[in-house]
Amino acid sequence: MSRLPGDSTRCVKAVAHEGLPGSPLQPGPVFAAPYLLGEDERDDVDTYARASNPGWRALESALAALEHASAARVVGSGMSAITVALRALTSPGGTVVVPSEGYYQVRMFATEYLAPHGIEVHELSVAEFGDGSLQQVLDAAGPGALVLAETPSNPGLDTVDLRETAALCHRAGAVLLVDNTTATPLGQLPLDLGADVVVASGTKSLSGHSDLLFGYVAVANDDLLPAVDRERLLSGTVLGPFETWLAHRSLGTAGLRFERQCANALAVAEMLRSHPAVSGVRYPGLETDPAYAVAARQMRRYGPLVTFRLPTRDDVYRFVRATELVTPATSFGGIHTTADRRARWGDAVPEGFVRLSCGIEDTDDLLADLDAAL
Ligand SMILES: Cc1ncc(COP(=O)(O)O)c(C=O)c1O
Repeated sequence: MSRLPGDSTRCVKAVAHEGLPGSPLQPGPVFAAPYLLGEDERDDVDTYARASNPGWRALESALAALEHASAARVVGSGMSAITVALRALTSPGGTVVVPSEGYYQVRMFATEYLAPHGIEVHELSVAEFGDGSLQQVLDAAGPGALVLAETPSNPGLDTVDLRETAALCHRAGAVLLVDNTTATPLGQLPLDLGADVVVASGTKSLSGHSDLLFGYVAVANDDLLPAVDRERLLSGTVLGPFETWLAHRSLGTAGLRFERQCANALAVAEMLRSHPAVSGVRYPGLETDPAYAVAARQMRRYGPLVTFRLPTRDDVYRFVRATELVTPATSFGGIHTTADRRARWGDAVPEGFVRLSCGIEDTDDLLADLDAAL
């Protein structure tokens, strides 16, 4: 195809990818039971739902199409995607680099699980990915290291240059994994930029209704799949049939939802930037933002998240109480606009730091509500 179709076209096509149009999905909760074992004992497809099942295949083919991946594997949450991929692709004596400014539970997993299993863990900031520090770590590690980048980072919304990082990793024989949760494949395509693996939480904008947890691992090259499959099978970190069905059903509207979320986020960021009650507004899609130069080179949309500062902790709660459209919640990417005071979770941010996730409300209504509350 000479041009990339629009994102809503991609989403609608992706969920129609597998099977005949109109063929029913597999919502059944009785998942382990109904598979009949054929007499050909070499046939190991769909013998047991933790290994393979038709519902996963439909969702996985849609996600692979959206991520421009050779294949995708679904798991029970975004954290499962990250832990399955890291466990599958490293072993004792190996080196793993995780972002020091990314999702905090990934650092917990690295220090509480990987390090005690003999894996050397390095935490690098977004700046250190580009200032020679990553190069130094990889030179010392030798081939086979894993590098996890998160861009835009949660909650700082800083960007890692994925083309440069992929080139650096490949020169050193390292594998680059990118957490594509905040951008989604509708905002950036890490595998097209040179990454080897995408890990992501589909709990956020992709499923978009804040009603399920799911994650996926998508690979540029099938060589990495057997290790991921083995890890999912043996760890049992699987996605249940109902969530599988619901995620697949939700993907078809992800293009529409994400377009509105991103348009709202840009409008909100622009409004907040000139608002006297607010300081430190960050949005990678703002031309004045420090993350913009890299974001504009590698992203097509800049995501639903905007961050800003109010003077105190109490101001954050006063602001949320005063709005009509903002729900206090820690997840993001849903149809409702939500706000989270990140210091609550121990992120290294000021007490009045707010991470706002813009929903799909009408832009003018959202702007008026936020302005009135501030
Ligand atoms: C960037 C990022 N990666 C991964 C996760 C984990 O996703 P889940 O909650 O689906 O396990 C999150 C959760 O907020 C996240 O923000």
